[in-house]
Amino acid sequence: MREPYSEVTADYELWSCQDIDSTEDEVIELVGSLVRAMKPRLCVEVGSHVGLSSFEIGRALERNGRGHLHCFESTPQAARAVRERTAGLPVTVHPMTDLRFDPSELPGRVDFLFVDGDLDNRGASMNHWRDSLSENHVVAVHDSLKHWEVRQSIETAGFSERLDIVTPRGISLLRF
Ligand SMILES: C[S@@+](CC[C@H](N)C(=O)[O-])C[C@H]1O[C@@H](n2cnc3c(N)ncnc32)[C@H](O)[C@@H]1O
Repeated sequence: MREPYSEVTADYELWSCQDIDSTEDEVIELVGSLVRAMKPRLCVEVGSHVGLSSFEIGRALERNGRGHLHCFESTPQAARAVRERTAGLPVTVHPMTDLRFDPSELPGRVDFLFVDGDLDNRGASMNHWRDSLSENHVVAVHDSLKHWEVRQSIETAGFSERLDIVTPRGISLLRF
């Protein structure tokens, strides 16, 4: 489907998405390309919905020949869909909110963090993971330009670098 109206860009109809809860197709491709370019060892995705971005990250890691994705999806039925979609890829699906998971259980620091949960819990997720990020990490926060809750959570997060990519919903690349 075409991306619905967004006041972020007058060209919003140039983007597409599979359903309104899934990230824009073009942003999913961007996230996959970032993973291809960065060669991260450890990736975390907060909020997988039906796993379109999880699949793209997992496929990028497989092509890289190293790295693993841990996805967190709090809706059990959605988490099952993510598990099916990413079967055979270097992906572990955690059917739970990321905030209940202890980051020290992971085998290292997180190189790439994709924050795409509910609009009102992005700040909590950034706080939860920030002490577990690696030196060259990238944190990608989706919906960062369309929704004030997400904009506000980024502004109060205390990042050191920020790049906003203009899409109908927006994605911001942060370094803490
Ligand atoms: C916008 S959708 C994610 C879209 C997905 N990343 C994609 O690219 O298609 C948000 C999802 O996050 C889940 N969710 C919200 N807060 C969460 C949290 N803190 N931990 C895990 N899942 C969460 C919701 O159940 C929902 O399925």
